[in-house]
Amino acid sequence: MHSKTILPLMLISLFKLYYCVEDVIPPPGSTFYFAYGSNLLTKRLHLNNPSAVFYSIAKLADYRLDFNYQMEAWQGAVATIVEDKDAHVWGTVWTMDTDQLHYLDDQEGVAIGLYYAKNVTVTTPSGQQLVARTYIETKNPEKAANGTDIPMERRPSNTYLEVIALGAIESHLPADYIGYIFSFPTNGKMASKTRREELGYPF
Ligand SMILES: *[C@@H]1O[C@H](CO)[C@@H](O)[C@H](O)[C@H]1NC(C)=O
Ligand SMILES: *[C@@H]1O[C@H](CO)[C@@H](O)[C@H](O)[C@H]1NC(C)=O
Repeated sequence: MHSKTILPLMLISLFKLYYCVEDVIPPPGSTFYFAYGSNLLTKRLHLNNPSAVFYSIAKLADYRLDFNYQMEAWQGAVATIVEDKDAHVWGTVWTMDTDQLHYLDDQEGVAIGLYYAKNVTVTTPSGQQLVARTYIETKNPEKAANGTDIPMERRPSNTYLEVIALGAIESHLPADYIGYIFSFPTNGKMASKTRREELGYPF
């Protein structure tokens, strides 16, 4: 190894040792997936992605949770993450069969340009750092001036926010973040009957 590269590598190793950060890779044939929206709820994720196995909760730095694209089935805006130095997003990391990822791409509407897939680095509460696939809306919203002035067309439905909150509780996301999820105003609507029925509503 070239001597110039050794010092930076040693510094990175020392930094990771000091902060107890450990890089983790998924088992062969699988991919880590970071969920932050309705896929926080196991039942919802398993509808289209039965191979998903819960791995850990994790935090994504420098992004915020937001809502933008209106979806008929949910009767409201669906979740996205937006780059934001003043924020972070908590979510769940799932181990998925890599050859089944196309089901997730389909669910997220990648082919029709709703979301695109991106690899992000997230950190688990025990200090593991891992690269996970996540999905971001192709048309991300501007930051609302404050939580209460999110326009109606950008608000999630009651059902959608409930699914996110239930998923956050189920996976034991930090209590303050669960509270933050509940702080988003909804549009007061219920998801479509079909969507509610496939999720087994009332939950
Ligand atoms: C994420 O990284 C994996 C492994 O390097 C790669 O196969 C995959 O194409 C990447 N995904 C995206 C969306 O960049
Ligand atoms: C937040 O936005 C709403 C609606 O635009 C406004 O009435 C309210 O005063 C704002 N609150 C703060 C703290 O800026």
